[in-house]
Amino acid sequence: MTESSSTVRLPQLTIGVENDQPIIFGWSAYGPVSALFHGRLAIMACGGEPGRRIDGPVSGSTYLVDKGLRRAALAAKGFMPEDEGDALYAAARTVPAGGLILEVGSYCGKSTIYLAAAAREAGAQVVTVDHHRGSDENQAGWEHHDPTVVDPRTGRMDTLPFLRRNLEDAGVEDVVTLVIGRTEQVGGWWTTPVSLLFIDGGHAEYQAQADYEAWAHHVAPGGTLLIHDVFPDPADGGQAPYHIFLRALDDGFKERSRTGSLRVLDRVP
Ligand SMILES: C[S@@+](CC[C@H](N)C(=O)[O-])C[C@H]1O[C@@H](n2cnc3c(N)ncnc32)[C@H](O)[C@@H]1O
Repeated sequence: MTESSSTVRLPQLTIGVENDQPIIFGWSAYGPVSALFHGRLAIMACGGEPGRRIDGPVSGSTYLVDKGLRRAALAAKGFMPEDEGDALYAAARTVPAGGLILEVGSYCGKSTIYLAAAAREAGAQVVTVDHHRGSDENQAGWEHHDPTVVDPRTGRMDTLPFLRRNLEDAGVEDVVTLVIGRTEQVGGWWTTPVSLLFIDGGHAEYQAQADYEAWAHHVAPGGTLLIHDVFPDPADGGQAPYHIFLRALDDGFKERSRTGSLRVLDRVP
């Protein structure tokens, strides 16, 4: 630590400031601190090391997911690791009151519950879009197939009943609106500016590009774009989400933080 260093002690962790740069010292209840959002401190597990530098100004409040909703999210079927769920919540928690959070890829509602927890506290609303027939990689024979979400009547996937039940059990139906349809189709007629867009739909190249094309321009100036499953190294995972992350940077979005494979970007006003 240099002479310009200072520390902020919070109940579960210690953040340091060195030459105006925040630096991780400790661990929250959920893991190491990873990011700071809009001048507010967000706690999440990130797989980072204590002492790793992170960008952004340090100040006041700490956000943690409501315990009951966190339990509900953890219990739901889905593809959102715990630390990334906390990061998703923390990013969404900073949307302005009256703002709109748009999710591409509801599946059974795991990530939707994290977004709903944030929306409720922020005074925002969530719209989540999915056709509920599964992505290419969810179909039988693929790695991410779950036979329990197949409708025995038709043999097709149908995750909508799981989503409805999970949101009902979590008690978040008042802040979440479901849109059932193809994301690129819905994005074509959508007109409301989006405060936070979370892209977690199909991970085939054509689908990720179509989702970006259909939705990225709806992010309001100053709004936030989150992309899930961004793996720069092909050995870690498919490249399509990484490609749309690069496309977003080309389009002027600025990376704010990352937690695991979740990237948070800002649309510069
Ligand atoms: C990776 S899963 C979403 C996981 C979810 N966010 C979670 O936290 O568990 C991707 C979802 O995108 C949906 N999807 C894929 N392509 C789509 C499309 N063109 N239109 C609508 N939904 C689509 C699939 O049905 C699937 O439920």
